[in-house]
Amino acid sequence: MSNVEKLLCMNGGEGETSYATNSVVQEEVMLKAKPILEESLRELYLGTFPSCLRIADFGCSSGPNTLLFVSKITDIISSACQEVNHKEPTFLVFLNDLPGNDFNTIFRSLPSFYEKLRKDKGMEFGPCFIGGMPGTFYERLFPDHYLHFAHSSYSLHWRSQVPEELNKGNIYIAKTSPMSVYTSYLQQFERDFTLFLTSRSLEMIPGGYMVLTMIGSDKNFLSGNHSYTIFELLGLTLNDMVQEGLVQEEKLDSFNMPYYAPTAEEVRHVIKTEGSSKHKRGTYVATTIRVVSESILASHFGEEIMDNLFERFAIKMDEYLVTEKGVYANIVVSMKRKNN
Ligand SMILES: C[S@@+](CC[C@H](N)C(=O)[O-])C[C@H]1O[C@@H](n2cnc3c(N)ncnc32)[C@H](O)[C@@H]1O
Repeated sequence: MSNVEKLLCMNGGEGETSYATNSVVQEEVMLKAKPILEESLRELYLGTFPSCLRIADFGCSSGPNTLLFVSKITDIISSACQEVNHKEPTFLVFLNDLPGNDFNTIFRSLPSFYEKLRKDKGMEFGPCFIGGMPGTFYERLFPDHYLHFAHSSYSLHWRSQVPEELNKGNIYIAKTSPMSVYTSYLQQFERDFTLFLTSRSLEMIPGGYMVLTMIGSDKNFLSGNHSYTIFELLGLTLNDMVQEGLVQEEKLDSFNMPYYAPTAEEVRHVIKTEGSSKHKRGTYVATTIRVVSESILASHFGEEIMDNLFERFAIKMDEYLVTEKGVYANIVVSMKRKNN
């Protein structure tokens, strides 16, 4: 696992700045992607009728969305079974995230989650078994030909490494970044996403399905006149703090965010080149930045400036949103593993 992956984790617990309390955007995105999830799961199940359906959620984090995903898949399969009058399968669901993820909070909520499933669905249902699979999803995590269905929502924009290039005054690709910074980010995305696809293609049964949702971008950094990105604005906020002597300039210059939001074309290109999946559909549908970026920023800039940084960042965002729409692009990809 890379250094970035050792440091990265969403804010744990259930407090005001925890991921669990601030994952409404991700929930909305998951709901928007539900028709695609539904279509893929039904096609998979009704085409194969496995007695035990093995599913993994990559980058599950710890919050309401973690088990919401499990509820959604059990609902989709239950209604498909009712339609064709077929006995429900056993569900085996693996929740994957980096080892630093707050798995304990998830595991503590499992008894009441199982209880609710039994109450809502009756004794005929399942059963459903849920386990954790800690590790980076840019490596192998499961045995050969094991998973029927792979899912990942709002996680694949995290990079395993950051560009080494000097990106003076910025923490992400910005108007003032040299072109080499953009190229390095893109190449890192291509390496990471290829590793993800290759690892999953070995782990999935032939004909298995995969639905991935990630933050995307409709920006063309090559044109040089893109509108500001969130992390460009966070970089500008850190820059203001450098001017006021609150953050060391050298600290800002030596930091790059392990994040890259690809365009739909960049995603398509990697899927095509990697070659193990048939790309079924790509759609574009739109974070709360602190909960997802605080651990990595605090480890570099220091915990003590986080409140100050994010208060300032909120003001900068307000100013920016007066003139810009601030729309997010989301990319949802549904794929089927080739049969050979
Ligand atoms: C924004 S959260 C999304 C969580 C959840 N899927 C949702 O939709 O609310 C992104 C998650 O991806 C995880 N993640 C990032 N890089 C990862 C990697 N290389 N391997 C496994 N998980 C990773 C992070 O730790 C984080 O929990």
